[in-house]
Amino acid sequence: MGEQDLPPITYLDNAATSWPKPPCVQDAMVRALAEFGSPGRGAHRLALAASRAVADARSTLADALGVPDSQDLMFQCGCTQALNVMLQGLLEPGDRVVVSSMEHNAVVRPLHALAERGVKVDIVHADAAGLIDANAFETEVRRSDTRAIVCQHVSNVTGVVQPIADLTDIAHANDALMLVDGAQAVGHLDVDVGALGVDGYAASGHKGLLGPQGVGVLYLTQKADASPLIFGGTGSRSESPEQPHERPSRYEAGTPGVPAICGLGASARWLAEEATRIRERERLLTRTLIEGLTGIPDIHVLGPAADEMRTPIVALVSKRLEPDRMAYELDHRWGIASRPGLHCAPWAHETIGTLDTGALRLGLGWNSTAEDIERVLDALGEMHS
Ligand code: ALA
Repeated sequence: MGEQDLPPITYLDNAATSWPKPPCVQDAMVRALAEFGSPGRGAHRLALAASRAVADARSTLADALGVPDSQDLMFQCGCTQALNVMLQGLLEPGDRVVVSSMEHNAVVRPLHALAERGVKVDIVHADAAGLIDANAFETEVRRSDTRAIVCQHVSNVTGVVQPIADLTDIAHANDALMLVDGAQAVGHLDVDVGALGVDGYAASGHKGLLGPQGVGVLYLTQKADASPLIFGGTGSRSESPEQPHERPSRYEAGTPGVPAICGLGASARWLAEEATRIRERERLLTRTLIEGLTGIPDIHVLGPAADEMRTPIVALVSKRLEPDRMAYELDHRWGIASRPGLHCAPWAHETIGTLDTGALRLGLGWNSTAEDIERVLDALGEMHS
């Protein structure tokens, strides 16, 4: 079967990247290409227009995420880069970090590299739904000097929401930093980093925030004074070979991805109006999906039972069919996009007992409909009849 013979798409892979994007994203990106020069690098009108657009996008994102001072919010190429700046910039040989067993490779791999340079990494295991127990973290943090707690806000495998406010209290009571991977939380949850009190928060622009690929954000408090990971031109203090200390340029060396930043600014502005409605619909559709899946013989839904503890990610395993097989059938016979396998999160799959098989993940999004849910339930039901 060629691609032209595939059925029309039902997109349930929003946890990998949201699709489609709201139309305003494309409009903002096209405008940036047509009308903007390079921000912070010239005094002509196209450069100034670009600087203004980037500053607008920064304050929109700061408002959306509860960042008290927009200068502490830095644009990065994505959440992985933001996490690397945060982890590699703050942790030094001899430091100890306490981390959850549910982390994505965007955290696991930088920590592995840091461990090879002398950072001690201790893991706190989550339960079979992927939920972290804050008390277990407290015990582990108190056991020895801790520089930072590192934890995801939401699992990209089970969608479980972790108790970040409790972990932040534990970190601060023990003079440690609280560093968060918010890739799967932003957009789907009401994230307020100022109210949470975290010291560092990395987020993806192209998932729940509905922006384009190639942009993410990093929030660091002044206390979390990370060394930069990338050095280079910032358009400021050009006479000095030293990387400027001023934020945000300290962490934004090189020409920024203006079209992607403008696209993200547009989606965040759009979401500010639409998020409540979208989240409520995502919650209802996720509940319908889980209830329907529970009625299909031999399918087991992973993750927490209560819907307030999860985002619109639903992972499942089948006693009869491998995740790869289900994903292939969903795509080729029904046109349904899903993601099988380990989801770049082998620690998480080990924690919930699916390291050998992986799982099939369905990621709902702003554009998901009741018909999409019906379609995937029919498809999986037929595969298991
Ligand atoms: N981290 C993304 C996912 O979970 C790509 O699919």
